[in-house]
Amino acid sequence: MFMVAENLVNTERRMLKAMLVDSGKNWTLDEILDSCNWQDQAVAVGAGQGLANKGFADVHEVVSTEVRLASQGESAMNEGLLEARLWQWFKSADEATMASMQQSFEKHEAGPGIGLLKKLGITMETGIFTCADEAMVEETISARQKFLSDLPSKVSDLDQQLLEQFKSRRNFIELVDSTSRTWTLTKSGSQVKVGDLVETTMVNEITPELLQSDSWKDVEFRSFDVTLESATPRTGRSHPMQSLIERIRHIFLEMGFSELVEDYVQTAGWNMDALFIPQDHPAREMQDTFYLDNPNSMPLPDHIMETWSDIHRTGGETGSTGWGGEFSKETSQKGLLRTHTTVNTIQYLADNPKKACRMFTVDRVFRKEAIDRTHLPEFHQIEGIIMEEGANLQMLVTTLKTFYEKMGYPEVRVRPAYFPYTEPSLEIEVKWRGKWLELGGAGIFRPEVTEPLGIEHPVLAWGMGLERLAMLVLGLDDIRQLYISDLEWLRNQPLI
Ligand code: PHE
Repeated sequence: MFMVAENLVNTERRMLKAMLVDSGKNWTLDEILDSCNWQDQAVAVGAGQGLANKGFADVHEVVSTEVRLASQGESAMNEGLLEARLWQWFKSADEATMASMQQSFEKHEAGPGIGLLKKLGITMETGIFTCADEAMVEETISARQKFLSDLPSKVSDLDQQLLEQFKSRRNFIELVDSTSRTWTLTKSGSQVKVGDLVETTMVNEITPELLQSDSWKDVEFRSFDVTLESATPRTGRSHPMQSLIERIRHIFLEMGFSELVEDYVQTAGWNMDALFIPQDHPAREMQDTFYLDNPNSMPLPDHIMETWSDIHRTGGETGSTGWGGEFSKETSQKGLLRTHTTVNTIQYLADNPKKACRMFTVDRVFRKEAIDRTHLPEFHQIEGIIMEEGANLQMLVTTLKTFYEKMGYPEVRVRPAYFPYTEPSLEIEVKWRGKWLELGGAGIFRPEVTEPLGIEHPVLAWGMGLERLAMLVLGLDDIRQLYISDLEWLRNQPLI
């Protein structure tokens, strides 16, 4: 006779053997794990599925909803349920007035607290909270506490009224569906002889040793069910900001640019004076710029400061009238955290005034901004310059359009803007979800900036926000999400 159990793998043999002890029984997962001496439920589920596929067992799946504590529920468990703490306060207060409650509880608790007390039957009379039925309140509160401490539980095992009560409170509990399985033997399963269910030595790895000896001829090979569910392996990956920076780098390198990487500790002179930003410009104030205590001041060559001084006071030999007023070398030598990456491109130009170039930088800048949905005090700029004979506005616009097109944003427009160091000056906007969003500034450097450095060709320049672009690429409406290191969010970000 054909031996039915022959094509079973070991785990299936063990499970079938265990079930044959009581062939009419409906076996739970725990019972199977216990009888088979397994720890891993995936093994039991896999073996059960195998037995079912071969007609020896039936799998019964029951999906049930489990109620678990959510964040507010967890903190209520740790710190005490708000109504319980309110009740304690009520019982021990000399005078349970609103003012005394507001003193004992924080605003975000006192507000909802009033509502909670009222629902429990504690009302305000002549300015004092009073309670008609104390026993009833205590009973309600302890039932609620018990409800929470019983979690996790199946929906069906819980008091439905209390369940509704907690469902209506934000983030107290969450409902999660889970599948539980049981197994019964089929008729052909129950007819298998225990004697046929001897476990054989199974090989699940083919090693050189096995192949070199002849023993592979006699062993049984374990088969794998590749259709079973398994955990997704979590491997390391780049932070989306890093991937985005890499992508931007590639685009500029592809367009023939070279990368410039420089320090972010700079002088006010290079950050501002060299760019013809007047010394009384509001952006230079302490409340906008991070000036450093150490180094508080960084010495600059006198001839450079003389040149800036001439340009700022009178326009020097550029034909400009300058800003007038006084120029302070002390102000120039102040140390600061760069407020824009233009500080580095201008120094590059000062060192290489004659050589045509295309340079870019993706780097960190600092401004004293209050943190909110769209602002951070530390962020990145995508900066670039093109210096060559005949460079013109059209070329600037085309370059920026090409860049954004390669990033996946084909709709770009420019609008007139103002920067002290460029003329004309532009604002770059990109269309996203039907709206125009401003992403940065650009322009052609003014003679007050280029002539004193001995530059002869036009210099096209731009500086754009990286985080703003990241918000578009990742579909964020809060810039802070980029830096809070939320692992779950990070894992689920698309490849950039
Ligand atoms: N530096 C400017 C900013 O930080 C951007 C810019 C760069 C504008 C180069 C014109 C030219 O906003």
